[in-house]
Amino acid sequence: MLKVENLTVHYGRALAVKDVNIEVRKGEIVAIVGSNGAGKTTILNAVMGVLKKHGRVVFEDRDITNFKTHEIAGLGISYLPDTRTVFKNLTVLDNLRVAFYKNLKAEGEKGFRQKLEGIFEHFTNLEEKIGLKAGFLSGGEQQMLSIAQSLIREPKLVILDEPSAGLSPKLVKDLFNIISFMKRNRLTVLIVEQNVNKTIKIADRVYFLKNGKIVASGKAKDFEDDNIIKQAYFGG
Ligand SMILES: Nc1ncnc2c1ncn2[C@@H]1O[C@H](COP(=O)(O)OP(=O)(O)OP(=O)(O)O)[C@@H](O)[C@H]1O
Ligand SMILES: [Mg+2]
Repeated sequence: MLKVENLTVHYGRALAVKDVNIEVRKGEIVAIVGSNGAGKTTILNAVMGVLKKHGRVVFEDRDITNFKTHEIAGLGISYLPDTRTVFKNLTVLDNLRVAFYKNLKAEGEKGFRQKLEGIFEHFTNLEEKIGLKAGFLSGGEQQMLSIAQSLIREPKLVILDEPSAGLSPKLVKDLFNIISFMKRNRLTVLIVEQNVNKTIKIADRVYFLKNGKIVASGKAKDFEDDNIIKQAYFGG
């Protein structure tokens, strides 16, 4: 579904990502794990057309290397950046409605309400606060809302940049449950995380990134007991 080929990105003269190859197949959860500054966000921004890059990006057999960000989003890729933002002056409900806007024309308010039910099955916290302005939610709740926004669009591919960062243990648990749910529904996910143990449990395949390079990759379950990798790159 998504192929990243020989991706190299510089910031000025500094090399941030070098010769990275990543593939995400339909229905897979693929994770990129790496510590601070490894180049994870850089890869995602380059894929989404936010940064200048060398290499090639292919989505559903189409070369999208030179597509603009909104064109890439229009193909059905939903990107949740690490700077997640919700509209603080809009209610939880309206934030979700805005996210659903493109589908609203075709599916109407009824379609929206149906999708909403599906979302609230997994985001029970949000359902309780449906009428509240998003600005009154806690940081973690706002983060869950922004994840709900990217899911309600029913994208072909969801790209999540460290969705668990800054969440309470309870919300991290909810989040990983939601991602497992996505997996059972054959949604395709590319997730970037520092939380190596939790990520390995839900991902199908994983790429380990260090100093802008992929240093190991393979089936996630093959790394579950691989303390060498974990210790070498993540200090345990
Ligand atoms: N706009 C920028 N200008 C210059 N250098 C940058 C810029 N953005 C990132 N970098 C550098 O590129 C490298 C990779 O950064 P990146 O944000 O991709 O890392 P990351 O893996 O997402 O880290 P984190 O887990 O902290 O989010 C870092 O050395 C960083 O300092
Ligand atoms: Mg980052």
